[in-house]
Amino acid sequence: MKHPKPHLFPLLSFYQKPLFSNPIFLMARTQIRTIPSDPPQNDNSNDDDALLCSNPQQNQEEQSPSQGDDTPSSIGSPGRYLSGESRVERAWAHWAKLGRPKLIVAPMVDNSELPFRMLCRKFGAEAAYTPMLHSRIFTENEKYRNEEFTTCKEDRPLFVQFCANDPDVLLEAARRVEPYCDYVDINLGCPQRIARRGYYGAFLMDNLPLVKSLVEKLALNLNVPVSCKIRVFPNLQDTIKYAKMLEDAGCSLLAVHGRTRDEKDGKKFRADWNAIKAVKNALRIPVLANGNIRHMEDVQNCLEETGADGVLSAESVLENPALFAGFQTADWVGDNEKDNIAGKLDQAELLVEYLKLCERYPVPWRMIRSHVHKMLGDWFRIQPRVREDLNSQSRLTFEFLYNLVDQLRELGVRIPLYQKDASAARSSAEDVAS
Ligand SMILES: Cc1cc2nc3c(=O)[nH]c(=O)nc-3n(C[C@H](O)[C@H](O)[C@H](O)COP(=O)(O)O)c2cc1C
Repeated sequence: MKHPKPHLFPLLSFYQKPLFSNPIFLMARTQIRTIPSDPPQNDNSNDDDALLCSNPQQNQEEQSPSQGDDTPSSIGSPGRYLSGESRVERAWAHWAKLGRPKLIVAPMVDNSELPFRMLCRKFGAEAAYTPMLHSRIFTENEKYRNEEFTTCKEDRPLFVQFCANDPDVLLEAARRVEPYCDYVDINLGCPQRIARRGYYGAFLMDNLPLVKSLVEKLALNLNVPVSCKIRVFPNLQDTIKYAKMLEDAGCSLLAVHGRTRDEKDGKKFRADWNAIKAVKNALRIPVLANGNIRHMEDVQNCLEETGADGVLSAESVLENPALFAGFQTADWVGDNEKDNIAGKLDQAELLVEYLKLCERYPVPWRMIRSHVHKMLGDWFRIQPRVREDLNSQSRLTFEFLYNLVDQLRELGVRIPLYQKDASAARSSAEDVAS
C-alpha cells in the first residue's frame, strides 16, 4: 500500500502567481486546504473558514505593538520603530499570551514533523518547533514546502525554524509561514558538516554581523516575533555578548543549547546549564534551556538551576514522546526503582498513536521509519529479527507497521514506561485508551 494521498490535491504552482500571493497547502486528514499566504497587512479579504491555522488578520491585530507614540498606526511590522524597552515588553506580552509554555519539543530535522508534534502535545508538550527548513529551498521549491511544512489548527504554539544566510531569502521564506506560527525561528546552532558546507547554523557564529542582519531583517518586517536557537561559545563572555547582540537586533526569545559547536555528541558532552543561566541573567527576553532534558526531574532541576523560562527536549522525547507527561524510560529509573511505578503506557502504544496521527496528517515515510526505530529501539534489542524484518522493507505500509507492533507483543516483548505517581500514571494511560 502506498502512502495514502489526501483526496484533493490541487497542484497549483506557487510560481503561477506573484510572490506572496500564492496559497500554501497544508495537509489534513481528508483534504488539503488552500490557505492564502499573502503577507497579512491590510488584507481584509481572508475567509476565516479557509484558514486551517490562525487568522493572519487576527494575528496582526493581536501582535501589533500598542499604538503608542513611536508606533505609526498603519505599520503592521512589530519590530519597526520600537525602542529596546518596548520590544522587550512586547516579547513578554507575546510569551504570556501563548500561556508561557515551559515544556517544548525541540526542532529536529525529519523528526519534529506534524504528527510527532501532535503526539507530544497530547502527552504534555506545551509548544513545539518544526524541523529546520532550508529558507532558500523553501522559497524555490513547492514540493519541498508541501512535504516539509504541514500544520493544523491544533498545532500551536508553533515555532517554524529556518536556516539561512541571506536576509532577503529568509524574509521571503518567513513570510510564507508567519500566519501559521507563533515564532519564526533562526537556526544558529546546527553543527553538522552539511551546515558548514551550506554556511548556516552554528557556522554563522564566525560571522556575527551576518547573524545580526538576519535577525534585524525579520524583526523589522514580520508580524510574528523572531526567535533564535544558539549553541554556546567555549568562552562564557563571548556567549553573553552574542546573546545580547541577538536581543538588541530584535530577537524576542532565545533558546540556548548548552553545548559548543564542537560538542556534537549529546551523549558524550553534558550541556552547560551554568552558561544558560548566565545568558538568562544577562538578557531581558524569554530564554529557553536546551540539553540534558531526559525526564521531568531534569526539567525541574534545569528550570531551577538556570532560571530559564522553559526547556526544549530532543533526543529523549524521540524515544519517549510522553516525557512531558511525566513518563520515563527504564534507563532513568535506576536506583529509585521503588519510587517509580510501571505505568500502563509503553512505547508501542505511543507508536500506534503516532501511526494514527500519520494516517491523519501524511508525512514522508522516511520520517515514520525513523520514529519506529527511535520509539521501539529497546524492543528491537530484545527481538532483533523484527528490526531486520523492518529494515528489509524498502516500502512501508501502515498495515505492516501495525502488524509489527502486534508481532512484538505476541513475542512477549513489553517494556513499560515508568511514572513517579501511580494514580497519575493510571489516569494518563486511561486518557490514551479513551
Ligand atoms: C534527530 C535530530 C534532529 C535535529 N535537528 C535539529 C534542527 O532541525 N534544528 C535545530 O536547531 N536543532 C536540531 N537538533 C538539535 C536539537 O534540537 C537539540 O538542540 C539537541 O539535540 C540537544 O537537545 P537534547 O540534549 O535534548 O537532545 C536535532 C537533534 C536531533 C536528535
